[in-house]
Amino acid sequence: MSDQVVPAVINLDVPGPVISRHLYGHFAEHLGRCIYGGFYVGEDSEIPNEGGIRLDVVEALRALDIPNLRWPGGCFADEYHWMDGIGPKQDRPSMVNTHWGNVEENNHFGTHEFMALCELLGAEPYISGNVGSGTVREMSDWVEYLTRDGDSPMVRLRKQNGREEPWKIRFWGLGNEAWGCGGNMSAQQYAAEARRFGTYCRDHGGNKLYRIAAGANSADYAWTETLMKQLGELGCAYRPQPFMQALSFHYYTIPGTWQDKGDATVFDTDDYYRTLAKAAYVDELITGHANVMDCYDPGKHVGLVLDEWGTWWNVEPGTNPGFLYQQNTLRDALVASLHFDIFHRHADRLVMANIAQTVNVLQAMILTDPDTKALVLTPTYHVFEMNKGHQDAASLRVDLPAGVPARETLATVSLSASRKDGKVLVSLSNLDAGAPADVELDLRGGALSGVRARILTAGNLQDHNTPGAPDTIAPRAHDQVTATANGLRVHLPAHSFITVEGRLG
Ligand code: AHR
Repeated sequence: MSDQVVPAVINLDVPGPVISRHLYGHFAEHLGRCIYGGFYVGEDSEIPNEGGIRLDVVEALRALDIPNLRWPGGCFADEYHWMDGIGPKQDRPSMVNTHWGNVEENNHFGTHEFMALCELLGAEPYISGNVGSGTVREMSDWVEYLTRDGDSPMVRLRKQNGREEPWKIRFWGLGNEAWGCGGNMSAQQYAAEARRFGTYCRDHGGNKLYRIAAGANSADYAWTETLMKQLGELGCAYRPQPFMQALSFHYYTIPGTWQDKGDATVFDTDDYYRTLAKAAYVDELITGHANVMDCYDPGKHVGLVLDEWGTWWNVEPGTNPGFLYQQNTLRDALVASLHFDIFHRHADRLVMANIAQTVNVLQAMILTDPDTKALVLTPTYHVFEMNKGHQDAASLRVDLPAGVPARETLATVSLSASRKDGKVLVSLSNLDAGAPADVELDLRGGALSGVRARILTAGNLQDHNTPGAPDTIAPRAHDQVTATANGLRVHLPAHSFITVEGRLG
């Protein structure tokens, strides 16, 4: 049987909205082995580190051009008291991490360690403040501690702890999942809290905060509407008010139920398609939240942030259920590539997205072996790397005049494209588990030279990387791209992700 041929038209000379690099953001919570054992091993570890921060992890993430890192949670953020995490480590009080495994948190990784990590990564910090169990004063002091120059009580405390200069912080979260672990609030209650907390998170000196209100759970559009109404109530419907510059929402890809989410590596083709269909649903969610926002903010001044996304499976057998450690297969990679195509299409409103979570938790980039200390790059990591050229690039609309093959409601071919610095990057996913496809790219308004393509695929959907076989899934050169009269024909084997790059002109 001949392959499905999918015509796709891209006008290379008609740039659309810029794809913010922050759509490729990350999230690191005090959860399981994400911080301790993942990012942070302590100064005395035999693993090469700087100030306790694992350098092989830093090096791997730098290769992704990681744009921002959200910390310290998640649910943990709303029970985190930042003052416990500063000063000499031996004097820092410990606490119980009640959300994640009821383990003791010694606060050895705190504000200074997080800021040092961001500096090593070259990533912007995104701090989630504590609204649920914290005070306005506590949050306001944290902002002052981090960002104020000159002389003030918090500046003196920071200097006493060894940091003279203020840091630059832009992204500031006003709590997390306020509808659940962040305080079990109603939308009205939280909106009032967000106004209060946001007001006292001051812009000190030249530092300008970008305050992100904790938003909806999945399709709770009423939550978004309640928050957006605040802008109007404060007297101006068309300018962002100082208390928030963006609002977030969370959506995880879970094909099963919360009680039995499904296994990361043991699944069949039906499970696979169910997962991809759940992932594709994020398109409807972004559209829904953006439509509500458009009613109150047609000028799109307020950003939409998806600061938690990714697959969530049952934990790996034998691991602590509170640590959310899961493997990562080719299926996870295709969930990621599909999300990115959708994100690129919403670049006019979606300003940031953070995959949960960077190391050893949920849909991680990196898994570290607690015994051998080996580090494994996951298939999802490779999607982030192959797609990094889209960061801060102008999106290019992709028209599919004949549609795409579908399996029930799931379109099984997905594409997005962008251009930056005279280069074009096209990402193509074939989600079909068994059938290849050919995409005929009709490239208008320009031609591409020096075309280079890479492919991420594997023999089986369930294939994954382990310390013993770290490159079972890794990008390889793809030579099944041929020139046509109008552009390029790209062959997409079943269950594959491909990037095609070329120079304009
Ligand atoms: O990422 C794991 C958890 O998922 C986060 O702590 C919470 O915000 C969400 O429910």
